[in-house]
Amino acid sequence: MNPALLPAVRSFLSSPRQLLIDGEWVDAKDGRTFATVNPSTEEELVQVAHASSVDVDRAVVAARAAFESGSPWSKMTPRDRSHLLWRIGDLIDAHADEFAQLEALDNGKRVEAAREGDIAIAAELFRYFAGWATKMEGTSIPMSVPGREFHAYTRREPVGVVAGIVPWNFPLLMACFKIVPAITAGNTVILKPAEQTPLTALRLGELLLEAGVPAGVVNVLPGFGDTGAALVEHHGVDKVAFTGSTEVGKKIAAAAAGNLKKVSLELGGKAPNIIFNDADIEAAIAGAVLGGFFNEGQCCVNGSRLYVQRGVFDQVVAGVAAAAAAIKVGDGFDPTSQMGPLVSQEQHEKVLGYIGGAVRDGAVLTAGSADRVGDRGFFVQPTLITGVDEQMAVQTDEIFGPVVTAIPFDTEDEVVAAANNTVYGLAAGVWSNNIGTAHRVGARLRAGTVWLNTWHADDVTLPRGGFKQSGWGRELGSFGLDDYTELKTVIAELR
Ligand code: NAI
Ligand code: MG
Repeated sequence: MNPALLPAVRSFLSSPRQLLIDGEWVDAKDGRTFATVNPSTEEELVQVAHASSVDVDRAVVAARAAFESGSPWSKMTPRDRSHLLWRIGDLIDAHADEFAQLEALDNGKRVEAAREGDIAIAAELFRYFAGWATKMEGTSIPMSVPGREFHAYTRREPVGVVAGIVPWNFPLLMACFKIVPAITAGNTVILKPAEQTPLTALRLGELLLEAGVPAGVVNVLPGFGDTGAALVEHHGVDKVAFTGSTEVGKKIAAAAAGNLKKVSLELGGKAPNIIFNDADIEAAIAGAVLGGFFNEGQCCVNGSRLYVQRGVFDQVVAGVAAAAAAIKVGDGFDPTSQMGPLVSQEQHEKVLGYIGGAVRDGAVLTAGSADRVGDRGFFVQPTLITGVDEQMAVQTDEIFGPVVTAIPFDTEDEVVAAANNTVYGLAAGVWSNNIGTAHRVGARLRAGTVWLNTWHADDVTLPRGGFKQSGWGRELGSFGLDDYTELKTVIAELR
């Protein structure tokens, strides 16, 4: 066991973790469990209950009862919910070191990165939405009916029981992306964390109870794709909020048809990062490195396709390659590490497979390697690939690892066409000191987020989501409650 671990973390890992259903910690009905693994060491951390469709049924019954009018949750005022959300944010901050260690153990990312990124933003998300709980306003709308008088207005009401299904790249944060807007609007939730990284969502479940979230309002059901599928098919679920692969997003859209549950999807990406000759080249190189390798490359908005104008191509490639080669890859608990391992053996094999495939297709590894780093742990050296064409798998597919391709271009029209030549549309970026070029090209890129002369600049106040096959709906910001509410129109005749 790692000597740096906090007593609270040791204690959390000392017994099998259970499901949270109706305010109680329970085993899966069929007793099934699975191991969650430390990707730096490949050692088992703890066994976790694996929810089956029977457990999904129990959670749906609990979430429905908690939602119904007359329940303690339904009787809470918007102000009560606001204060509750703020309290949870403070509790997360109070346990930030513990969350950061659990996240680093389960996902592999650096403890420091988890604390300053994932955990701090998760806490802020609760506080940001605490403000919205009291501001979910409707409008009053005039009607024109000769000889009669009406008062018509809209109300925003919760959708009902929401299933949140989330991935492993930002485990706590993605859980909060679903839970926070859902409960802000008065919904109840069943959260299905990713099988690779269930721990912080389970710890959050404990804090939610401690903060005073009523039983059944948030249920946490770890499991694999079968657990997620059981939620998506369940007719007692009113909405699914999903983040993950485009492949599974399509399955969810199809499976949701049974009761036409609402669906919001945040799916894959393959973001183009375009550097013009007239860019601030040093800033652009730093942005390409951050955009390419942030979170071990396991981030849907990473700039994995670099397009560099011919005049600065060699300079940018040399700069990014040097920075990639200098990144120290190692255990997330080692303070000298600059990048941790990938999340799982499956992801490790997938990413190394893509790099090896690119070499076989004739591409050049300007930095990095198709070989694993070390003989234990799922480490990959950050990789920059040149000599790529648009048809290679490494260029078309979302790889989700520290792998960036670089292709030269000559004209704006040419690069816009290449950048948009993808099924994805999550993020894109432009580097140019010409304000006209930056904004014009930004407008021409088909993506939900466009960064100009920056990358990964972000705030919980900003909406995010995808064009094309990168998804349906937008999360966070002032738009982030739309998908968690139904709009009701009320018409009263004034007699
Ligand atoms: P995935 O999409 O299979 O898993 C995401 C979540 O969906 C997990 O909680 C999983 O248990 C659940 N799930 C799987 N099958 C399901 C089904 N049929 N019905 C309902 N829920 C289901 O992603 P996976 O397998 O972890 O990663 C594969 C690739 O997907 C990655 O290499 C990456 O390219 C992409 N991905 C994209 C993410 C993003 O943020 N856009 C996040 C994670 C993965
Ligand atoms: Mg999968």
